[in-house]
Parts: sequence; structure tokens; C-alpha cells
Amino acid sequence: MGSKKKTLAEKADKFLCYQKSVQSPEHEVDFFEQAFRDAYGKKPYTLREDFCGTFSVCCEWVKSNKKRTALGVDLCAETLQWGRDHNYSKLKDEQQQRVRLLEQDVRKRNRPQVDVLAAQNFSFWIFKTRAEVIDYFRAARANMKSEGIMVMDMMGGGDCFIEGQVDKRKIRKGKKGFRYDWKQASYNPITQDASFYISFSFPDGSKLKNAFEYHWRFWTITEVREMLEEAGFSGSHVYWDMEDEKGNDLDEWAKVENADSTPCWVCYIVGIK
Ligand SMILES: C[S@@+](CC[C@H](N)C(=O)[O-])C[C@H]1O[C@@H](n2cnc3c(N)ncnc32)[C@H](O)[C@@H]1O
Repeated sequence: MGSKKKTLAEKADKFLCYQKSVQSPEHEVDFFEQAFRDAYGKKPYTLREDFCGTFSVCCEWVKSNKKRTALGVDLCAETLQWGRDHNYSKLKDEQQQRVRLLEQDVRKRNRPQVDVLAAQNFSFWIFKTRAEVIDYFRAARANMKSEGIMVMDMMGGGDCFIEGQVDKRKIRKGKKGFRYDWKQASYNPITQDASFYISFSFPDGSKLKNAFEYHWRFWTITEVREMLEEAGFSGSHVYWDMEDEKGNDLDEWAKVENADSTPCWVCYIVGIK
């Protein structure tokens, strides 16, 4: 009996699909540089990527400058291993020597301290109480140099509170392409508990349904800035994604105090030590 031909979903690598859909490490590195320069008027060299997953940002960081070092921190051995096999392995020997990984909780304190501490893709939303977030922010602050910044991304807007809302994005056209769906599955207005699922669909009709799932508290910018202050940060800034008059994305981030209430937005919060 001939073996059944595998579907595209069965052949797919969920981490590779994730990376292609969700991450843009070059963009992150540019933003870290911009925010650090704004804060201290100089170039940053040391990065700690909390919740680093497959640590693609660490890898991009050491590629961007010969003096740069990166530390990736994540609890999940499987995800870190995927990063070693697919991202780290593509670096030159000399670049590899400048990346260090720790399989541990992000709330641990480590040395040496860093210029930029990044916690990307809303990962700290896993902490659902103020006490837990402030505890994490205190540890993060301790892991930063006296001239250091903490960078987090945030999302919001009315659409984020619509249960069942799906953001469908086609990654690449043609046979090899796949579709990425970010589903806002549930939102509880009383507790701010929210569940999100990432699925991928392929041209042969097969699916990697709920390849990734997140059960988070939906924090607001105001709350996060207040918690940074409580954790000892001297200040914080919000950077908004700029658009031209026609609403086209300019791929520029500007420090702002007011923004339009659009249905769906992402921004960065930068904590200043
Ligand atoms: C949403 S993913 C983000 C991955 C990556 N930072 C990105 O930008 O795409 C969250 C990651 O955080 C890790 N994680 C969750 N809780 C953690 C904790 N307390 N300490 C360390 N890592 C944790 C998970 O293993 C997972 O890899």
C-alpha cells in the first residue's frame, strides 16, 4: 500500500510560519537604536531579549554591529532549540560567540546588565495581576545598566474587543504561500482576560489550526506606564506608528502624547531606567 501524500500543513514548520508572519527583527533593531539614542544620545551595544522564543532578534542584533552582544531568555526548551537549529546556525562563528541563551524565567536577575531590554509581542501580558507585572518590571529594571531602556510593544483599539475578530494576512502569493490568521477568540470585559490564536492555512486547503495560543490580560498603555513608575523607572515614552495624510504606513515611529483612536493600533512603550 502506498503511503498517503502529506498535506502542506503536515509538512509545514509552525515556528517558521510564525517567524515569517509575525516577526521583523531588522525593524526591531532599528527601533531599539532610535529609542536608545533618543534617551541617551548614543548607540546601544548590549541587548537582553526576554521571552525570546526562537531569539531571531538576538541574532539580528549581533549581525547589525561587530561589538554587539545579545542574551536571550525563555522558559521553553523546544522553542530555544528551534532557534539554535534555524537562526543561530545561520550566523557566522564570530557572531555566534556574541549570543548567549538562558532557559529560565524572565523574572530572574542576571549579570551583566544591558543597554536595551526588550519584551516583544505582548509577552508580558501573561502576567495577569499588577503585582506580577510590577515584580517583572522590577527584575527587568535590575537587569538593565544605569543608562538603559526597556522596550515593549502594545496593541489596542476597538476591534481588539470584538470576539471572533480575525486578522487575515496572506504571507506570500503563489503555491508556496500561506495565510496567517490572528484570532481574537475571547475577551472578558470584567477581568480583561483575552485569548488569542494563531492559525495558518495552505493552498491545498489544509490548516495548522491554533498552532499558537495565548491567554493574556489585556493591559492598557496607561496601566503599563503607571506600573513602570511603581517599579522604579524614572519615566516612559510612547512611540506611535506614523501615517501620511492618506493613511499609508510610513514605517516611522514618533514619540507622542496624543493619538487617534483607530480600530486597531500597535505601539511601543519605552521605559527609561
Ligand atoms: C508570544 S511568545 C513571543 C516570542 C518572541 N518574543 C516574539 O516576539 O515573537 C512568548 C514566549 O514567552 C515564553 N515565556 C512565557 N512565560 C515566560 C516566563 N515567565 N519566562 C520566560 N519565558 C516565558 C514562551 O515560552 C514563549 O516563547
